[in-house]
Amino acid sequence: MVELGVNIDHVATVREARKTNEPDPVWAAALAELGGADGITIHLREDRRHIQDRDLEILKNTVTVKLNLEMACEEEVVRIACRTKPQQVSLVPEKREEITTEGGLNILLQRERIGEVIKRLQDVGVNVSMFLDPDLAQIQAAAELGANAVELHTGQYALAEPGPKQGLELATLRAAAAEIRQLGMTLHAGHGLTYRNVKPVAAIEDMHELNIGHSIIARSIMIGLERAVREMKQLIN
Ligand code: PXP
Repeated sequence: MVELGVNIDHVATVREARKTNEPDPVWAAALAELGGADGITIHLREDRRHIQDRDLEILKNTVTVKLNLEMACEEEVVRIACRTKPQQVSLVPEKREEITTEGGLNILLQRERIGEVIKRLQDVGVNVSMFLDPDLAQIQAAAELGANAVELHTGQYALAEPGPKQGLELATLRAAAAEIRQLGMTLHAGHGLTYRNVKPVAAIEDMHELNIGHSIIARSIMIGLERAVREMKQLIN
């Protein structure tokens, strides 16, 4: 079974648009669970533009499926993660000016720091996933640093025109997935996945977890979150 991690950051984005207390991502997490989510994913950004520290604290105590915290290797957030101990952390790059995470983490550029963060998280019992482009050198570096999982960045696949271009991106994802499997890490994928493009990615051999946010939250505005999650869960399996 492919697990579905539902990213609920956009619910917090709507709340922060008015700096008020609704809609509450904590409610969204409960509804996503009712729809069959296997995990709840949130990104605690350094600039706190959507998810707040309070959300992480409450979700840690209320989510009954896997809580996956996306974060950069920024020291304050690393300390918060080590104290809160979500089941899983996904290390991502972060730029203040970006609208959403733009590319995978470049492990080769900051190997020592990333290795230290992985170890500190694993020492307190947190599984560590690395958000990487489908690049074999990066994947090998993740294995050398002892990462538990790699989340393949599916953004290029999602942006590619359906047809041969998308086929090429899918082949790149498949090759990267084979390397992740070969190196003994768990395979995750995410970014830009939608109800239209998700099936071939979900069908990659040994796919364990997909993290999907925008498309599910967008549909939930029209049909409700529980149903939107249930429909995605059916599609990926
Ligand atoms: N995975 C990671 C690491 C991400 O940063 C994001 C976006 O926050 C997602 C998955 C979900 O992407 P989308 O919102 O495009 O489904």
